[in-house]
Amino acid sequence: MAHPSDLLPLLHSQRSGFSLARPFYADASVHQADLETIWYRSWIFAASAAELPRAGSYVTLQLGRYPLVIVRGSDGAVRAFHNSCRHRGSRICSKPSGQAAKLVCPYHQWTYETDGRLLWARDMGPEFEPARHGLKPVACEIAAGMVFLCLAADPPDFSEVKAAADRYAAPHRLDELKVAHRSSILEKANWKLVMENNRECYHCAGSHPALCRTFNDDPDLVGSDDSLSSPAGAAHVARCEAAGLPSRYLIGGDAQWRLVRIPFVGEAVSYTMDGRAAAPRIPGVPFDNAGSLLFFHYPNTWNHFLSDHVLNFRMLPVSPTETEVTTTWLVHKDAVEGRDYDLARLTEVWTATNDEDRRVVEENQIGVSSPAYEPGPYSVRQESGVIQFVDWYVRTMTAGLAGPSAMAAE
Ligand code: FES
Ligand SMILES: [Fe+2]
Repeated sequence: MAHPSDLLPLLHSQRSGFSLARPFYADASVHQADLETIWYRSWIFAASAAELPRAGSYVTLQLGRYPLVIVRGSDGAVRAFHNSCRHRGSRICSKPSGQAAKLVCPYHQWTYETDGRLLWARDMGPEFEPARHGLKPVACEIAAGMVFLCLAADPPDFSEVKAAADRYAAPHRLDELKVAHRSSILEKANWKLVMENNRECYHCAGSHPALCRTFNDDPDLVGSDDSLSSPAGAAHVARCEAAGLPSRYLIGGDAQWRLVRIPFVGEAVSYTMDGRAAAPRIPGVPFDNAGSLLFFHYPNTWNHFLSDHVLNFRMLPVSPTETEVTTTWLVHKDAVEGRDYDLARLTEVWTATNDEDRRVVEENQIGVSSPAYEPGPYSVRQESGVIQFVDWYVRTMTAGLAGPSAMAAE
């Protein structure tokens, strides 16, 4: 494919309600178009704010071709920068996360303040102006305790999703949580297959024995409109709302994100093998059986906010057929491992579920890569979430590729 706009006929031929054509899942030029049209222009979930507990705490990530670093400054503010030195471009921070008083480039030791200013550069002569060589900033916002970044020079408005996510997640006291565990796995599948798989539970009964003990896979529980059509869902929302927990189905940003609080199966209160809590209740959530507040934001995150812990999921594309999925488990900062929670018990269900999902999406990738694959129909009853995601993808790509500012030169 010579130019990404050559993708438009393929996008136009896509039938709503059917899985995507093979190039969308396997082709390097489509992947490049995905990066430039969606990943380099949208707000991307990068890290949990709890991963940056102190001044000088930093987290790094690779977003497509861009190495990035997020750091908490001495003023407490969280900022993001291109992780590329303004001398000769070396990556500055190479560890996934760490703690540093200043950001020091390992190559020639140019030294940056945690707010990005260049503080020191040896033997650069009297004409050298440090103020012109600060780290390049990247747009950065925090919503529901989650740090989002946007590489665009003129990022899309984030205020609507931030206000909604902050309001829904507020009882979970995100600024009082700490990281209990973090895992990253590489899934050999296109990022869209990973998100499609997340947006349905048609596969849950066949793949997730541990999750299905507590996660309700009733497709009517979360419909594609604001009515939780199952009586259990509606009763749960009413009970939580009455107790001051924002819970109603809310979708926004051209259907790019959604919030809703759903009940667990039976008397369960958490994603554990026995359904009982895995950690002490987070102050602010009025009762144990608050179910799970679900929050997705395309293209790269889905999240569960429970009464006893919070799960953030981050997906980053690595190649056309590889995606990194990172899971972060957060508990209240006063909870002590071994006394108040057992790490194996806290992480057991989602560690198993992630691995089961890895296997199904990898098999999906192998199958869609076959020349014999043709797009198949989604179940309207079971896969309305997938249809909603794929429609968002096609709409966003079409608008991005057809728009006047399409294609920043790479
Ligand atoms: S490239 Fe960073 S100090 Fe030289
Ligand atoms: Fe799954």
